Amino acid sequence: MRKKAMIVLASLLGLATAIAVTGSMPQAADKASALDIQVKAFLEKMKSRWADLNVPEGDGQLLYDIVLKNNYKKALEIGTSTGHSGIWIAWALSKTGGKLITIEIDESRHKEALAHFREAGLAEYIDARLADAHKLVEELPGPFDFVFSDADKAWYVNYAKAVIPKLLPGGCLAAHNISPRRGGFGGGNGGYFDYMKNLSDFDTSMAADRSSLAVSYKKKAR
Ligand SMILES: C[S@@+](CC[C@H](N)C(=O)[O-])C[C@H]1O[C@@H](n2cnc3c(N)ncnc32)[C@H](O)[C@@H]1O
Repeated sequence: MRKKAMIVLASLLGLATAIAVTGSMPQAADKASALDIQVKAFLEKMKSRWADLNVPEGDGQLLYDIVLKNNYKKALEIGTSTGHSGIWIAWALSKTGGKLITIEIDESRHKEALAHFREAGLAEYIDARLADAHKLVEELPGPFDFVFSDADKAWYVNYAKAVIPKLLPGGCLAAHNISPRRGGFGGGNGGYFDYMKNLSDFDTSMAADRSSLAVSYKKKAR
């Protein structure tokens, strides 16, 4: 009798598992792949149309890979422009369960970015702010686990100083248009790369050969 009850219980458990697998899991996967299709179609359409100081596709892919690989969830972008990098970051965040705050000072670029985020299907993962990042970056409470700096280059060190206390251990501060051989920026005021390199609680390097993306990972406490 007891053996019979055990068999019935095991069958019920199996049934519940089967319902879970065939019922809910495929729906989540379907949603994810529908979003992938929408984002890819949007990026394909826009491929040769980005014209507002947007990152090149390869750097967008690097940002996506960094966020996904490290399972980052609390992202900040300084310098939205019309949204190219924001789309790559938010696409990765849609898979990690995270969200992006992105800041732009120019109203027409901000509005265009909002339209792009909607068209790509990523609006729910992005909180786009029209603001002066000099002020807002100071005010945002954080914490962040990923920060992408891509606004006014002369302010990069100040942005770093403002976000570092809000960056979680293991988090990453990435900065665009960096030329380490010149100690800092390609064509801006120097010093960002050297500044980050000299911080002992960060590991700073270039993200990849021929990229202009510097990445600084905040060391985890031992
Ligand atoms: C290089 S573009 C950003 C490109 C964007 N990350 C992309 O890949 O699509 C720099 C942007 O930073 C904005 N910017 C410059 N100074 C700013 C500030 N103080 N606050 C907010 N945005 C600023 C500019 O208006 C410009 O759109």
